[in-house]
Amino acid sequence: MKHFLNTQDWSRPELDALLTQAALFKRNKLGGELRGRSIALVFFNPSLRTRTSFELGAFQLGGHAVVLQPGKDAWPIEFDLGTVMDGDTEEHIAEVARVLSRYVDLIGVRAFPKFIDWSLDRQDRVLQGFAKHATVPVINMETITHPCQELAHVLALQEHFGATDLRGKKYVLTWTYHPKALNTAVANSALTIATRMGMDVTLLCPTPEYVLDERYMGWAEQNVAESGGSLKVSHDIDSAYAGADVVYAKSWGALPYFGNWGPEKPIRDGFRHFIVDERKMALTNNGVFSHCLPLRRNVKATDAVMDSPNCIAIEEAENRLHVQKAVMAALAAQAS
Ligand code: CP
Repeated sequence: MKHFLNTQDWSRPELDALLTQAALFKRNKLGGELRGRSIALVFFNPSLRTRTSFELGAFQLGGHAVVLQPGKDAWPIEFDLGTVMDGDTEEHIAEVARVLSRYVDLIGVRAFPKFIDWSLDRQDRVLQGFAKHATVPVINMETITHPCQELAHVLALQEHFGATDLRGKKYVLTWTYHPKALNTAVANSALTIATRMGMDVTLLCPTPEYVLDERYMGWAEQNVAESGGSLKVSHDIDSAYAGADVVYAKSWGALPYFGNWGPEKPIRDGFRHFIVDERKMALTNNGVFSHCLPLRRNVKATDAVMDSPNCIAIEEAENRLHVQKAVMAALAAQAS
């Protein structure tokens, strides 16, 4: 049984098939691929796009979605084995995943890192716990990566450039300022999928401390070796933007400060100028700009960049619906 935990677990032909199916769903909204089927959407964190697009996607394919928020409208869940559960958690993932699997055909999970200990967070225990104990396919709705966002992003780029082959495009993944240290999930994912698609990728970040986890840097190295793209890390804004075809922005916390964010704050506050603005975009090759959203305007990117015809963030957000329908249909088909 195949899960959708990371795009790296899926072959390039499989990813291409998902993107092709998503483009078809974009043209023909309704289908019967989930008729009589259901999905549990388990949210440990807030969402606008993910929740709406998964619920509507299941509905449009003839299925039904049940949203659960453990600790709010469902019991708090224990993930560690061997724990004496005399604290706040009421039931164990071993029961939760197996019980849900008796009711539904798919399980989606959103569980952000706790931002205390990266060595624990990088184990992705919540998602892995569901995948281990569930007897139905599990979908990553954003944990320490965001594979659904990856597919939506690639589909938006393919639409913008009018081509499914993105090789040779100059792609800049830029760190951008945010007052708080954020999850690295979308940055990990952007790096993964951009290198997978064979683009010439620059990871632009303020200092070496903001380079991503070695697992994702390693995936990127592996991907460019296979796809023929390239990868470099830069701390120089102007040279990174120069001639770029794609600028993708995300803010994230520096991994060495996980659990001790106090000293990171003045460092990040010194890099407010990483905001995506008109001057930087003017250095690009009439480049396209995107972001996963939500985005704080005039902090991460200026109004002018967000309102520019070169901003495809809304297309990318719409594509979440189409790619997730493709993922749900593919996973449900393997069970039928
Ligand atoms: N991009 C994204 O996942 O948006 P939400 O957090 O609103 O779901």
